[in-house]
Formats: sequence, C-alpha cells, structure tokens
Amino acid sequence: MSEGVLRFSVTERALHWAFASGYLLLLASGLPLMVPALRGWIRGYSPLIGERLHLACGIFWVVATLGVLALGDRRRVGSTLGDMTTLEPGDGPWLRRFPRWLVATAVERARLDRAVGRFNAGQKINEVFTLVTASLLLVTGVAPWPVGADGLWGAAHRWLTVFVLIPIAGHIFLAAVHPSTRHVLTGMLDGRVGREWAATHHPRWGPQ
Ligand code: HEM
Repeated sequence: MSEGVLRFSVTERALHWAFASGYLLLLASGLPLMVPALRGWIRGYSPLIGERLHLACGIFWVVATLGVLALGDRRRVGSTLGDMTTLEPGDGPWLRRFPRWLVATAVERARLDRAVGRFNAGQKINEVFTLVTASLLLVTGVAPWPVGADGLWGAAHRWLTVFVLIPIAGHIFLAAVHPSTRHVLTGMLDGRVGREWAATHHPRWGPQ
C-alpha cells in the first residue's frame, strides 16, 4: 500500500465499484433498447436478448450493492454519507467558482479549494444527484414489469437515462481523464491519496 492518507476504506471502495460497475452495465445494456440505431453495431442482438441482459444487469447491480452493504462496515459508510450531505460554509463560494475551477491553474485551484472539507460542493451534489436519480431509475424500471415499458413509467425511465448521461460522463472525465484530478483515482483504487494533495485541496478534512 502506498503512503499518504486513507481516503476510502475497503467497504467504501467495494461499494463504489459494485454500484458503478452495475450502473455502467445497465447503461450499456439499456441504451440499445432505447436507441434502436445502436443495435446494428451488436452482432446477434435481438430486443428479447437485450431486455434479458438489462434485467440481469439490474439484478447484479442491486445484489452487488446490497451485498457490500450487508457484509461491509456500514458505520463507516454512514459517516461518509454524513460528510457528503453536510453543508459547510465554503460550499456556496466553491460552487459559484466551479466553472473557473474546471480551467484553473494548479495554484489558482488550490486557492479555490482553501475552504473545502473531505468533499467539495460538486462532489456533494454529484452524490445526492446519483442517489436520487438511481432510486428513480430503479422504481421506474421495476414498476411497469411484467407489462412492458411502453407506458408512462417507460417514458420516465428513458428520460431519466438521458438526464444522467452527462453528469456520469462528467464524473468519469474528472476521475479518470482531467489532468489535475485524475491522479486522485488512487483513493478509489488502493484507498490512499497524497498527504500534500489532501492538505491543499481538502484542508478542512480531519484525518490528515
Ligand atoms: C470508470 C468509472 C468511474 C471512475 C474511474 C470513478 C472514480 C471515482 C473516484 C476516484 C471517486 C473519489 C473522488 C474523491 O477522491 O473524492 C469517485 C467518487 C464517486 N463516484 Fe465514481 N467513478 C466511476 C464511475 C461512477 C459511476 C458510474 C457512478 C454512479 C453512477 C459513480 C458515483 C460516484 C459517487 C456518487 C462518488 C462520490 C461523490 C464524488 O466524488 O463525486 N462513479 N468515483
């Protein structure tokens, strides 16, 4: 294990990856159902196979996520949820400067992050947005079963899918591609991030 500060425990990382992999599989299996033009790219595809695959991904998503919660350290997950939903005085100003933050230099970004706790305001919004939209997707996906997804529930499910695509792409871009944030991916892989990074970008976070 590398040096640094522990950002995410084993349970938190397992929960993130169980949830994220199921979610991405659901998107990948759901998009061809929603956009027939995509089906031509998949050899041997039929709507029946597509629907069963999507259902299997949904079962995997729910079972994997609940499985981690059942077996893991729920107290730690609860405390992280608290960190993500507690508003701090620096959140409003951080959010107002977010467009600037995206293109800022390292020095300027450190200045914009000077009042940030364990999570910045963008992450807090992403977390709440993810929990709300994922729950709505689950409800609108399960509600029409076994009648079929042609009615109002199906339409809501499809619109929600469109609605989550850009925030998810943005999250993956920041986590894995953006040059100034991608190195923090280590926090979600081996759990640790650099002490200096934590002190600069999350100065109000306790365990440093
Ligand atoms: C390849 C895909 C993904 C990568 C590389 C990735 C990476 C990460 C990383 C590194 C963090 C921690 C950021 C920090 O240090 O604070 C994080 C947090 C998080 N991830 Fe992901 N993630 C991915 C996919 C997803 C998906 C599909 C979802 C849900 C739909 C998701 C939901 C979240 C949430 C809610 C958080 C906490 C809030 C935040 O940091 O924005 N992730 N992810």
